[in-house]
Amino acid sequence: MLSLVVLISGGGSNLRALLEATADADFPARVVAVGSDTDAPGLEHAEAFGVPSFTVVPTAFADRAAWGDELLAQVEAWSPDLVVCAGFMRILPPRFVAALSPNLINTHPALLPAFPGAHAVRDALAAGVTQTGVTVHIVDEGVDTGPVLVQQAVEVLPGDTEHELHERIKTVERALLVAAVRDIATTAEGVRP
Ligand code: GRF
Repeated sequence: MLSLVVLISGGGSNLRALLEATADADFPARVVAVGSDTDAPGLEHAEAFGVPSFTVVPTAFADRAAWGDELLAQVEAWSPDLVVCAGFMRILPPRFVAALSPNLINTHPALLPAFPGAHAVRDALAAGVTQTGVTVHIVDEGVDTGPVLVQQAVEVLPGDTEHELHERIKTVERALLVAAVRDIATTAEGVRP
């Protein structure tokens, strides 16, 4: 049974999808804790599912490295097999990434390497592409640059607003993230003696 810590910054619909999937006893993973960099609305999902949560706010620390070290300590306290960034809107410091990757994945609302960064949906619209999508990848020291695990395309429709396109992307993203976690958990289970 793979233990997950999920990191969020916002509404947490991807977290909720993971909580719902892992509530099924047949799913090979469970969310043991949820972390955030802020008082994220999505923390309500952790509470609803009885999952512990923690918040590590960057402004409480002298610098990004100190914040990252505290976040790492709070994540590692749960001994996760896999850490999932699901709408976590901070760049993770090198010590954090080095300690956890490749058991550290992220979901991104674009077909990386296209449109990295915090405004992927807006950038895709501005670029006038007719197709964008979702990427689940391993987090490395770069920004949205780690090895891709899985991607799925999403059509951009004429007249799409950023919100409409992002919601269409999230519908695909939630299913893709759950499937990616299931694959990792199944593979991990498979290699265990
Ligand atoms: C997701 O699309 C994620 O890829 C992006 O932010 C969004 C978070 O959505 N970084 P939610 O908080 O999971 O609903």
